[in-house]
Amino acid sequence: MQLLDVKGKSAVVTGAARGIGKATADLLAAQGATVARFDLEAGEGVTRVDVADEDAVNAAFAKIGKVDILVNNAGIAVRKSSLDITREEWDKVLAVNLSGLFLCSRAAARSMKRQGGGAIVNLASIMGLSGGLYPNPAYQASKGAVVNLTRALALEFAADNIRVNAVAPTFVRTELTAPLFSNPESFKKVMDHTPLGRLPEAEDIAQAILFLASPAARCITGVTLPVDCGYLAR
Ligand SMILES: NC(=O)c1ccc[n+]([C@@H]2O[C@H](COP(=O)([O-])OP(=O)(O)OC[C@H]3O[C@@H](n4cnc5c(N)ncnc54)[C@H](O)[C@@H]3O)[C@@H](O)[C@H]2O)c1
Repeated sequence: MQLLDVKGKSAVVTGAARGIGKATADLLAAQGATVARFDLEAGEGVTRVDVADEDAVNAAFAKIGKVDILVNNAGIAVRKSSLDITREEWDKVLAVNLSGLFLCSRAAARSMKRQGGGAIVNLASIMGLSGGLYPNPAYQASKGAVVNLTRALALEFAADNIRVNAVAPTFVRTELTAPLFSNPESFKKVMDHTPLGRLPEAEDIAQAILFLASPAARCITGVTLPVDCGYLAR
């Protein structure tokens, strides 16, 4: 058995139009999976789905039918302090990063349960395992919740042979983190906290996701794997 084998599997990746989601969808496809790419935005081979819209999510999963792998990657941030963020902005971040992930997970789990198993990989963040470096309270709260929802769903779905894990990336250069990478002061703060002295590319996160989704991780469930170049070791 090839350890990272996902050949012939049916995968769904949310937020797959760009960034980590696109890198993950491309890697899964290169490894022989059939990949459905969901995103709010248009993109190559992308199905337009808002993960925070329950009806749209259920309709999209019903159209696909069999799902073996789900990567809950869609995510947003509103970088404002807790005194400045509006109620609407707070709700929007939680709606996408937490509720959207939950809605996609249960839609996928219904299919996985019928077919005898599956694997779900969530995008948490080092911001869900630490207080974070700058004001981003809704994001930090949502990612902390993803870490614990990963455990709760892992327990709930274990009897159905559905594994649920997460990755917690450090900073990866994408549109989401453009403001950080273009600010030398914030960038220095991150590098000062990064023992390996380098940051991952989107493809490095995709490889960790592939591992957790594959048979190589068949005895792993409920964990959040940092892909952080040592950030959390400090
Ligand atoms: N880039 C990083 O440094 C980093 C670090 C830790 C965790 N993450 C997490 O990784 C995931 C991907 O981040 P990224 O950096 O690639 O971001 P990105 O902004 O480049 O891509 C996110 C994608 O999600 C899509 N999306 C947003 N809202 C959506 C919705 N409601 N429904 C469907 N799609 C939606 C966007 O259109 C976009 O294509 C996110 O969950 C993010 O929180 C990123």
